[in-house]
Amino acid sequence: MTTGQWWRDAVIYQVYPRSFADSDGDGVGDLPGVLSRLPYLKDLGVDAIWLNPFYPSPQADAGYDVADHRDVDPLFGTLADADALLARAHELGLRVVVDLVPNHTSSAHPWFRAALAGDKAARARYLFRDQPNGWQSVFGGSAWTQVADGQWYLHLFDAEQPDLDWTNPEVVAEFESILRFWLDRGVDGFRIDVAHGLRKDPALRELPDDLDPELPVHVAQPGHPFWDQDEVHEIWRGWRRVVDEYAGDRVTVAEAWVYDFDRLRLYLRPDELHTAFNFAFLVAPWDAAAFRKAIDDTLAGLSAVGAPATWVLSNHDVVRHASRYGGGAVGRRRARAAALLMLALPGGAYLYQGEELGLEEVFDIPDEKRQDPNFLRTGGAERGRDGCRVPIPWSGQSPPFGFSPPGAAQPPWLPQPASWANRTVEAEQHEPGSMLWLYRAALALRREHLGDGGLEWLDGGDPAVLCFRRTPGNVVCVVNTGPDPAAVPDGLTRLLSSAPLTPEGRLPGEAAAWFQE
Ligand code: NOJ
Repeated sequence: MTTGQWWRDAVIYQVYPRSFADSDGDGVGDLPGVLSRLPYLKDLGVDAIWLNPFYPSPQADAGYDVADHRDVDPLFGTLADADALLARAHELGLRVVVDLVPNHTSSAHPWFRAALAGDKAARARYLFRDQPNGWQSVFGGSAWTQVADGQWYLHLFDAEQPDLDWTNPEVVAEFESILRFWLDRGVDGFRIDVAHGLRKDPALRELPDDLDPELPVHVAQPGHPFWDQDEVHEIWRGWRRVVDEYAGDRVTVAEAWVYDFDRLRLYLRPDELHTAFNFAFLVAPWDAAAFRKAIDDTLAGLSAVGAPATWVLSNHDVVRHASRYGGGAVGRRRARAAALLMLALPGGAYLYQGEELGLEEVFDIPDEKRQDPNFLRTGGAERGRDGCRVPIPWSGQSPPFGFSPPGAAQPPWLPQPASWANRTVEAEQHEPGSMLWLYRAALALRREHLGDGGLEWLDGGDPAVLCFRRTPGNVVCVVNTGPDPAAVPDGLTRLLSSAPLTPEGRLPGEAAAWFQE
């Protein structure tokens, strides 16, 4: 295992436990399932895993409704399974980052139950008011629900996810204790859910009229009354003090939907969080200028505070990038090229389980199988996020594709497309040139030649082509976003490409390549 600030250029693989590997045949993935597949992740060549929430939860929002932050839901296993997973990952040299959800608890959390039962101190840990305001839930509908005695409580997400009041010192102290609980167990870091949302405007001001309607509702904007309030930084300074008490180079990563790097970098000041997801890169369309702007904004924006960049193309909340980039053969070509672009950039990278197999979004999940509260709260008007959460195909010719053991009592919790027979790990392992081969090769070369450091643009004059040199290492990455073959710099040795070069040595359309200078 590398030491020092390993997270500055780590590749962190996102494991969505309910959809990764099901060890007990109930159709839902679990921690023993993850443990059994750790050798696959080691071979893939990643440095760490991030586990989405596995805590006791009614699963109103797939575990982002936490009822007990210090245990494991029986659906996923036991605390002993979590310990075993940590130990095995560490033996293999893989770090483990867990997900903490501080903006809200589950409505089944003992604090909220006590609040409903009339316990005043418990009620003061949430945001109860006599009247609701006009705020809307990210998942649709009002952000307020009325309780039996007439008061209303705030929930920026589902009604089963009441928001905590982070001005209450008991809330602050509880989460610092939860951090210690997992740090003592040996986790290597935390992914922090909704890191831009914990503090709200104290007067609960209405949303201003001049917000940009083009931006999704979960993204911060100037003047917003609940996203990206200045006071949120006090919380992160407190968390950093706790994390810094521990040896072992533990890391924090903010899920903060803040596209403006002048604001995002505030979360990454030296006494706050270590890293943040780069959603500006994730949302960039397939376009050289858009990629270049996202890259330049990121590197310029974060260098001011000395924080490393991170890069991400997919996660459990967004349409898989192979589909966003056009789907089918086009989306696949572009996804291959995007992987080489992302893995060549300086800083860390996040992979979402299944992207290394080239999985696409599953659009045709029957309505009655869908579970995302975003789908349920909008009566299906918003399709929700189930399509990127379909269980991983490991092997075999038909569902459950090795996700569940033979003879499993239940089918996978979301149906897998029959067409995934040629997208299984088993199939791709035996198919030279598959997406899995590309990711393995890229990760191995990256370990040898790339990582933290600098980037110099090598302007070639073709607006569809991105070309840059990475330092140190002197690897040149060329990305051709256009349809026609493009020239590559002369006299370089090809290390890897997402598609074969043309007989004339040009880079085909919608492809990327790495060269050694
Ligand atoms: C962000 C998480 O990634 C998402 O899955 C969840 O629904 C919301 N936060 C609410 O916790």
